Amino acid sequence: MAFQRRIFSGIQPTGNLHLGNYLGAVRNWVALQAEYECIFCMVDMHAITASLLDPDELRRSTRELAAAMIASGIDPEKNILFNQSQNPDHATLAWIFNCVARMGWMNRMTQFKEKAGKDRENVSLGLFAYPALMAADILVYKATHVPVGEDQKQHLELTRDIAQKFNFDYQKEIFPLTEPQIFGTATRVMSLRDGMKKMSKSDPSDQSRINMTDTADQIADKIKRAKTDPDALPDSIDGLEGRPEAANLMGIYAALAGQTLEQAVADCAGRGFAEFKKLLTEVAVSHLAPITAEMRRLTADPGYVDGILRKGGERARELSAPVVAEIYDTVGFLRP
Ligand code: AMP
Ligand code: TRP
Repeated sequence: MAFQRRIFSGIQPTGNLHLGNYLGAVRNWVALQAEYECIFCMVDMHAITASLLDPDELRRSTRELAAAMIASGIDPEKNILFNQSQNPDHATLAWIFNCVARMGWMNRMTQFKEKAGKDRENVSLGLFAYPALMAADILVYKATHVPVGEDQKQHLELTRDIAQKFNFDYQKEIFPLTEPQIFGTATRVMSLRDGMKKMSKSDPSDQSRINMTDTADQIADKIKRAKTDPDALPDSIDGLEGRPEAANLMGIYAALAGQTLEQAVADCAGRGFAEFKKLLTEVAVSHLAPITAEMRRLTADPGYVDGILRKGGERARELSAPVVAEIYDTVGFLRP
C-alpha cells in the first residue's frame, strides 16, 4: 500500500529555543512546507517527562515556541501548527504503543540513558516511555517523513520498529515505515563552550548557546567568548579535523550565510578567530534579528497565537480521528 507523503515534526516547549533547534530543525521545516503537507507540533506532553513544570511557564514557553516558528517562516494557514495536548489521540495511541514496544528496545535508547544518568530509579515512567509517545505523535497521522536533527535518529528507528511490529502482529499494513529527514549543513550544532557537547536547552550555562530571544549584543558577546583554539582557520575541510570548536563555528557560519561548508572554509581560510568571530557575529545578527523582532511582536499578542494553536488542534484531530477509529477496530476496542 502506498502512503500519502505527509510530514510531521515536533519540538519541546521547554524554553531557550536555540540556534541548534533553528538550524537543525525549524529552518528545514520552513523549506519543506512549500512542497508537502506538514504538521508541526509543540510537544508539551513530552515537555513534562523530565520533571513537572511551572504551569504558567509551560504556557509561556508553548506560546513563545509557536511565535518563534511563525517568525521563522512557518505558515500556520498552510501547515498545521498546534500543541500536542490539544489532540488526545496522541496519548491514546501512545498507550497502545506502550504495549507494542519491548522493554529491551526502550532500555537501549541513548537519550533516555543520558537524561536519566545515574538516577535511573528516580526518573519518571514518562521519561522512559517518551519514545513511544513520539512514535504515536508521528503515526497517529501516518506521517511518512520526519525532519529532525541527528540526535533523533534512534527514536525514529524505534518508531519504525513499533510500526513494523504492530503491522506484523495484526497482519495489516496500517502504519508506514517513517523515514527520517536529516539535512542541512548544521544537523548537529555544538555548545559554544565545548565543541564536543551538543548545544542544548538544558545546558546550565547560557553562554553555551545562542537563544532565539537573544539581543544583538548578547549574540556578539557569546560569540566573542566562544571557545576556540590558537590556530588560524584552515584552507580545507580536512583541516577542521580534531578542532571541534573551529568545525562547529565554521558549520554555524556556513549554515547562516547560506553556503556549503567548502565555500565557507575557502572564504575564511587563513583568518584568525578574532576576525572570523566578527564575520560570524554579523551573519548571525543579520539573520536572527528580524526573526527575534517578529517573535516579540507575536508574543505581545497571546490571543493571536492561542487562536492559531486552537485551530491547528482542530485540524489535527480531524486528521487523526479516522486513524484512531481504524486502530480501535484493529485492536478490538469498541468504538465510542
Ligand atoms: P528539542 O529541543 O530536543 O525538542 O529538539 C527540537 C529539534 O531540534 C529536534 O529536531 C532536534 O533534533 C533539533 N536539535 C536540538 N538540538 C540540536 C542541535 N544542537 N543541533 C541540531 N539540531 C538540534
Ligand atoms: N523528541 C523530539 C526532540 O526532543 C521531539 C519530538 C517529540 C518529536 N515528538 C516528535 C520530533 C515527533 C519529531 C517527531 O527533539
